[in-house]
Amino acid sequence: MIKEEEYKKRRGALAKKLKKDSITVLFSAKSKQRSNDTEYPYRQNSNFYYMCGFKEDNAALVIVKKKKQTKTYLFVQKKDELLELWTGKRLGKKEAKEVFDVDTIFTTDTFEKKIVQWLKDKKYLYFDFSMQDERIDMLRKLSTHLSGHKNIAHKIGALRLYKSDGEIALIKKALSITKEAHHLAMKKAKSLSDECELQAEIEYVFKKRGAYSDAYTSIVACGNNANTLHYIKNDDKLQNNKLILIDAGCEYDYYASDITRSIPVSGKFIKAQKELYSMILSVEKEIISMVKPGLMRTALQSKSEELLCKGLVALGILNGDVKKLIKKKKHKKYYPHGIGHWMGIDVHDECPYKDKKANEIPLGEGMVMTIEPGIYIGENDMSVPKRFRGIGIRIEDDILVTKDGYENLSQGVFKEIKDIESL
Ligand code: GLY
Ligand code: MN
Ligand code: MN
Repeated sequence: MIKEEEYKKRRGALAKKLKKDSITVLFSAKSKQRSNDTEYPYRQNSNFYYMCGFKEDNAALVIVKKKKQTKTYLFVQKKDELLELWTGKRLGKKEAKEVFDVDTIFTTDTFEKKIVQWLKDKKYLYFDFSMQDERIDMLRKLSTHLSGHKNIAHKIGALRLYKSDGEIALIKKALSITKEAHHLAMKKAKSLSDECELQAEIEYVFKKRGAYSDAYTSIVACGNNANTLHYIKNDDKLQNNKLILIDAGCEYDYYASDITRSIPVSGKFIKAQKELYSMILSVEKEIISMVKPGLMRTALQSKSEELLCKGLVALGILNGDVKKLIKKKKHKKYYPHGIGHWMGIDVHDECPYKDKKANEIPLGEGMVMTIEPGIYIGENDMSVPKRFRGIGIRIEDDILVTKDGYENLSQGVFKEIKDIESL
């Protein structure tokens, strides 16, 4: 759990970056309707959560920065016995005061009145431009007299890029659960008949071990299904002698994990699978070993493209000179995605890849990114030797950039062929 003093420190760091005579408004997520009157489980907005750790609906965090003084306010929904009977306990103003170290707690019904008052003599309004709902419309309407609107998401994203020890501990906890789930999948695959059954086994471990949710919809893709990058239907049969690409990670107390393993249904890799898998695994390990402060993520990208292209030529999947093939982007057909992404509160953490001047941000201590090379060969790709057709493989780990290099946070999740086969 992240302590209140850390949230307070984050708010202090954000306030420093704000213009004087400004108001910053961050809203909680809105509950989302699934169909008719049923809703998806509520999940707090990540930027709002990062700044205060409050998990309830109908809330707002406001930072008012004047010339000489900054004040922070949290708006929480009112206690309401009847509504709480249906949707669960609310903290309410009185209890919120004991938890959140802000200047004043208000109830949400006073929000508009307060905002009008604060906006009167201000110049700038910050809010999250990616949010679009009637609350944002209201803010826009109330602030037409200001000098400008600014996107707060960029500034919070820049803070979220560097993880604290507390955040890293939560990611590690999420990964320890995800590891158990992947190992169970390795053990169970042979005895199950459907992708969704395997998905259920994985997600059972998430819930049993205290991860309320997955960090993203699990991908359990057998055989050629692995060549659909965002395959989430998971409604096909598990076929013997095929591989299953499992991209699944739990979210633990608002922190993600993101792991992909490619494992044989039968428990044993066949020769073509082994050849392709070993090539990708060696590339993955080499790219991970490059991670260190100062390096650019694009350097990892281009190295991964070069190594995978080389590997494809060695296996006879591509033919020709590696440099020329890369220049013509021939490898992109089989490796169409990036080498990895930031990870944290969101699986694709909303942090910048470039600075204000559009220069790439080099890797730095405390950043967490995935490394996930993959090769995908369609079952009807006649240009490839037959034995490789219909195979899709990705191997993904979560890497922390440390002072001198890196720490593979998902180190213990089996990926060597002999280890996977042993389960
Ligand atoms: N699980 C989503 C991704 O690997 O980016
Ligand atoms: Mn990923
Ligand atoms: Mn993934």
